[in-house]
Amino acid sequence: MIDVVGFRYCRLGTANLEETVKFATEMIGLEVVGRENGFVYMRGDDRDHNICYFDGDPMDHTLGLELAGFDELAGAESALSAAGLDVYRGTEEEAAARRCMGYINFKDPSGNSIDLTVRPFAAGRRYFPGRDAGIDEFSHIGLCVTDPREAEKFWSEVFNFRTSDWIGWSALMTFDEVHHRFALFPSDRPGIQHINFQVTETDDVMRSNYFLRDHQVRIQAGPGRHSLSGARFLYFYGPDEMIYEYSCGVRMVDDSWRARQFPVNDASFCAWGSKPDLSVLEGPDAGE
Ligand SMILES: [Fe+2]
Repeated sequence: MIDVVGFRYCRLGTANLEETVKFATEMIGLEVVGRENGFVYMRGDDRDHNICYFDGDPMDHTLGLELAGFDELAGAESALSAAGLDVYRGTEEEAAARRCMGYINFKDPSGNSIDLTVRPFAAGRRYFPGRDAGIDEFSHIGLCVTDPREAEKFWSEVFNFRTSDWIGWSALMTFDEVHHRFALFPSDRPGIQHINFQVTETDDVMRSNYFLRDHQVRIQAGPGRHSLSGARFLYFYGPDEMIYEYSCGVRMVDDSWRARQFPVNDASFCAWGSKPDLSVLEGPDAGE
């Protein structure tokens, strides 16, 4: 069992780096914390960074998770190899570009690129927002998986992820007390389906709803309230069709929590009645 202890970063290729950085700063409210060798590091909390953008294929996504130390990294390398996966150990230069002291990379059974990092950098200065969106932290992602049942089995047997709830066959999974760090989305490709930032309160969600609409940002869903996690949410599109989410009030779960099964319908997605695009939960063949 590989124990993940932290949720760290996304590395995202983008077709237009400057346009994406401008959107992330002025619309999402992130802070540029560094530019090095074509990488732009941005954040919405006090970690070194939450997103690293680079000029490249917009489908090129990597998620960075944190392990406790170098012994755990070596253990993970063995465990992943034993599970039949190819593991790449990053060089010191590559670790420096990920702003950590060491890492390995592998692809999960869906083909998602995952970095397991050791001692990712903390920041000496507090987050200074690009706009007052009320962001508190980078909190979870939607993860595209080619088979949600296989993905749930992999992340719960090889890693310390556990399922908090299901909607259809898609598990919402976590390794700590936050209701979910992964929301699995059935897809015909790997990648990050959405990126969540927690904001302080419902007022922040609603302020951004009006702010983003005023700035012609396409809203994907919401404002609404997730029936599973209880979080108030708003989803919107950024460059490269990446979906970003603000939410607040996500449920905390402990060891006594028992996962619940929800059907795929509007009420499972939003307790308030907003209309989601449920095809994203029905897989790549939905609507055909
Ligand atoms: Fe989400």
